[in-house]
Amino acid sequence: MKIVIAGAGAMGCLFAGLLAGSRHELWLLEKDAGKVDAIRSAGLSIEISGAEPAVSMPSITAYAGDAGIADVLVLLVKAYDTAAAVQAALPVIGPQTTVLTLQNGLGNIEAITRAVPQTLLLAGTTAQGATLLGNGRVRHAGRGETVIGPLVPEGAVRAHAVQEIFQSAGIPATVAEDIQPVLWGKLLVNAGINALTAIMRVKNGRVGDMEPLQAVMRRAVAEGAAVAQRLGISLPYPDPVVRTTEICCATAENFSSMYQDISLGRRTEIDSINGVIVEYANRLGLPVPVNCMLTRMVHALECPSVS
Ligand code: PAF
Repeated sequence: MKIVIAGAGAMGCLFAGLLAGSRHELWLLEKDAGKVDAIRSAGLSIEISGAEPAVSMPSITAYAGDAGIADVLVLLVKAYDTAAAVQAALPVIGPQTTVLTLQNGLGNIEAITRAVPQTLLLAGTTAQGATLLGNGRVRHAGRGETVIGPLVPEGAVRAHAVQEIFQSAGIPATVAEDIQPVLWGKLLVNAGINALTAIMRVKNGRVGDMEPLQAVMRRAVAEGAAVAQRLGISLPYPDPVVRTTEICCATAENFSSMYQDISLGRRTEIDSINGVIVEYANRLGLPVPVNCMLTRMVHALECPSVS
């Protein structure tokens, strides 16, 4: 099978590195010419639990036409780049190509289905942790489950095929019949952790063990849960605050993706995480002051003069 991964950031490189040992043909698609050159010459290097980094040399290109039609396209670009990444990836999407989004936040499905039929699309979440150390250099910051699911019942076969690809590469994966609760479940965890860690410049663990941060996290998550409830989404766990606290503990030593973005002076995914909760809440007439404030504070941090 030909697998194309769009986005050579932390997660894209991690997945490419983990899939590199499989029997599949692997391509990375990356718009940044600097990253393409660096990975083409030095390869991908994945550091796992302090061991000698595993180096692989996947094919990488900025032009999707070089890769040809893919069997599976995995989108791992930042949420604000989804629409552009799908346009750039059109040459690899044939009538049978499975397109999988494993991106953070909400809104990716809507952006992808403007160009790709729902029958080809799978969505999912991953609890794999990755820290970008440099172009093509990643530290595997924790192994976690990847959950994928179709948007329409006919897509189940595609979801099981991707699950098989991931599992044979040692990436734990499960298939969910209804993916929306899974996406909302991850959204609430991200809403509770990402903005707070970026604003406070702390590792995930502090949000779980410092009472003032935990108090803000609880409010942010509870607001998001109220929005989900009003939308009729039943979350994939009984208590979203308990779940978020568990993830803080499990990833205590990690820097969240938003922390990493702010530290590197990059745009964040805030609009697809806390910002999307604010959008839904406004439509539903629900108060979400904490998510609103977190969104504004991260927007402020994104201004070059602040960070
Ligand atoms: O975005 C992230 O960093 C991750 O989704 C999470 C769960 C917050 C762990 O770092």
